[in-house]
Amino acid sequence: MSGLFITFEGIDGCGKSTQRDLLAEELERRGLDVLVTREPGGTAIGEDIRRILVSDASVHIAPTTELLLYVAARAQHVAELIKPALDADRIVVSDRYTDSTVAFQGYGRGLDLEMIAVLNKLATADLKPDLTVVFDLDPATARGRLGSRPIGGLLGAFDEQHSDFHKRMRQGYLKMARSEPSRIHVVDASGAIEETYSKVLALVLPMLEEVRRAKSEVRSQEEVRSSESEVRSQESEARKPSNP
Ligand code: TMP
Repeated sequence: MSGLFITFEGIDGCGKSTQRDLLAEELERRGLDVLVTREPGGTAIGEDIRRILVSDASVHIAPTTELLLYVAARAQHVAELIKPALDADRIVVSDRYTDSTVAFQGYGRGLDLEMIAVLNKLATADLKPDLTVVFDLDPATARGRLGSRPIGGLLGAFDEQHSDFHKRMRQGYLKMARSEPSRIHVVDASGAIEETYSKVLALVLPMLEEVRRAKSEVRSQEEVRSSESEVRSQESEARKPSNP
């Protein structure tokens, strides 16, 4: 598998969806084959699950049910969209992935982190992003940015818990970034959209260059192999005794 897998993460209202769209436009402008997707969602099954989880705040979902639904949506997402896209050398940009479950259900709701790790591994066959950008923002600022927009899952129903919940998640994201510094990069999302976007580009562009270099290396190795095999077949033709 090659391609490039990028995920965007952060608390609600951190501005990651705007950044995702900006990056997708830029990658497409460069003629790259990009799949932009989101969790929960992306597939028909995932979008059905999203409706259960995110749209109807009046439904009380038990925390374990909620966890399993996010993970189920992810399993379908990886099998149906993400893995085939990466196998086809595409760039995948996903708005949320495994780290959201660790942050929201783990650090936010307090569900067992080891259990979440096992479920994430099961759902993804251990497929990890090449780059994860965490958009870091103070929960109060994030709440202000959301305005009257409904907040996903149980959050809408328990808005008074919103601040503490998001503070725990924010700390969770920062902890994850410290434990996987080569994959997870924290970007300060408190500034203007363009300011944040330039930080995203500074992370993504070197990776595109790496992918381009790796692909051109593979291409030149293939060219060398094919010209060597052509030489060999010409030599073996030349060695054949000529017909009288
Ligand atoms: P979004 O608004 O960023 O599209 O995300 C939808 C909501 O789902 C958001 O409140 C975060 C939540 N969520 C989880 O709680 N766990 C997860 O694993 C995922 C992917 C999202």
